[in-house]
Amino acid sequence: MDVIQTINEVKSLVKKARSDGKTIGFVPTMGALHEGHLSLIRAANEKCDFVVVSIFVNPTQFGPSEDLDKYPRPIEKDIELCEKNNVDLVFNPAVEQMYKQQNLTWVNVEKITECLCGSSRPNHFRGVTTVCAKLFNIVKPDFAFFGQKDAQQAVVIKRMVCDLNMDLEIVVCPIVRAADGLALSSRNAYLTPEQRKDAALLYKSLQNCRQLIEKGEKNSQTITDQIRTTLSESPLIKVEYISIVDFHSLEDIGRVSAGTLIAVAIRIANTRLIDNILVD
Ligand code: PAF
Repeated sequence: MDVIQTINEVKSLVKKARSDGKTIGFVPTMGALHEGHLSLIRAANEKCDFVVVSIFVNPTQFGPSEDLDKYPRPIEKDIELCEKNNVDLVFNPAVEQMYKQQNLTWVNVEKITECLCGSSRPNHFRGVTTVCAKLFNIVKPDFAFFGQKDAQQAVVIKRMVCDLNMDLEIVVCPIVRAADGLALSSRNAYLTPEQRKDAALLYKSLQNCRQLIEKGEKNSQTITDQIRTTLSESPLIKVEYISIVDFHSLEDIGRVSAGTLIAVAIRIANTRLIDNILVD
């Protein structure tokens, strides 16, 4: 496995793999790898011959008062995990490599970035789409793998790829959960044991909501109220949003049906957690 810091070296190694007839799979990450990331790497290995993982904590997707500085960066452990999981190339650039000068060019997907997480994180998705566009230009993958946990991110990236006629396919993989149901996230590491215990209510609220839908409830307001009631079992939880939207347009809908996305964001102290279910 190669661990590379420069764009030119990545380009030439990927070019060589492609000239050997290999398909290229790409897993973009910000590191602090957990089972969720590893499931994306496994999916990439199943579908592709040559797997590239980027580890880059992208500053342009963090707001001024967000956790850029304290975001975990266990790079040696991450590299070991990549090696164990048959990654061919790890791209671990410095910020100066990715943003050589002040960035004047941005990729901005409109509308679907203004709701859900976009309401409280104004430039977040612009940072995500810009860095993903840059990474896609560097790696030129055939397939890129994203997790369903960041449902809005997956929808936004798919839209960017479609609108800009980018030559790759986005593969979205299922959420990986801890034993108590909490969706795996690098930010779970911020939680104290007491906060971690209460964080499981996020999944419980979505499970209760699924049961309600299975019993025939379709009204978005009733479902939202039930999620809020479950979350209110913990005084530590502050609800940021509970959104019931169409999975593609991300527009609010009054009645759930197949293809509805139910997405929730909460804060426990300074830690922001998100989760979602898709109605099938
Ligand atoms: O999901 C993430 O970890 C990041 O948003 C991504 C896609 C690696 C872009 O920095």
